[in-house]
Amino acid sequence: MAIAILSALAEEQQGLLERLRQPRRTERAGRSFWQGELHGQPVVLALSRIGKVAAATTVTTLIEAFGARQLVFTGVAGGIGPGVQVGDVVVATDFVQHDMDASPLFPRYQIPLYGRERFVCDVRLSAALLDATRAGLRELGLQATVHHGLIASGDRFVSAAAEAMQLHKVLSEAGHPPLAVEMEGAAVAQVCHDYGIPFAAMRTISDRADDTAHVDFPKFVNEVASRYALAILDDFMRDLGQSRV
Ligand code: ADE
Repeated sequence: MAIAILSALAEEQQGLLERLRQPRRTERAGRSFWQGELHGQPVVLALSRIGKVAAATTVTTLIEAFGARQLVFTGVAGGIGPGVQVGDVVVATDFVQHDMDASPLFPRYQIPLYGRERFVCDVRLSAALLDATRAGLRELGLQATVHHGLIASGDRFVSAAAEAMQLHKVLSEAGHPPLAVEMEGAAVAQVCHDYGIPFAAMRTISDRADDTAHVDFPKFVNEVASRYALAILDDFMRDLGQSRV
């Protein structure tokens, strides 16, 4: 019963790879998958790739070819909710696709044939990730605010303040006020829903999806997000090993 750890960024995966026991790499679907153990737990590590389709392929392969039975996803996101600042962390409760629009055939944001706009994360796994996030940040000596709520995904890097505000406004008016925006989570959540796989996700806020987002993003990834992800996932896997969740 392997737990899959999906990283959006190579910098986030690097620390995990260094800790992986009995590492074995397999190439599949043009991606590298690393099997091994972390804190005595069988894991498989992968990079999500960027965008909804690429992430969906990675997750499907994790489940079909590597026997992933739970999945945790880390990455960075643009903060678009009020008070969601660079350096904060968002643990997802659920995901919406901000670029899904099959209206007038289906209501705006509804995923055709699913009859729903949002895919929810697993409550128990998310609670464990929230605990690990708080503990990991404490261990790093950081007082970052941890948010818990909706994340919006779409195939677009949002890098203009006006666009970020508009996105937040229209989603909120439709009843889906997002804390953050990124490019993969909703796809991962949908595939996990299809397979009945418990799923949890955390995103470190790298930018405010505004006009300086493209400058803030790479700097933040290298300097901060990788440290956050490693500290949080290390705590998460240690707790999982102890509680045998
Ligand atoms: N990931 C990190 N920042 C982002 C942004 N501004 N838009 C989309 N995805 C992101």
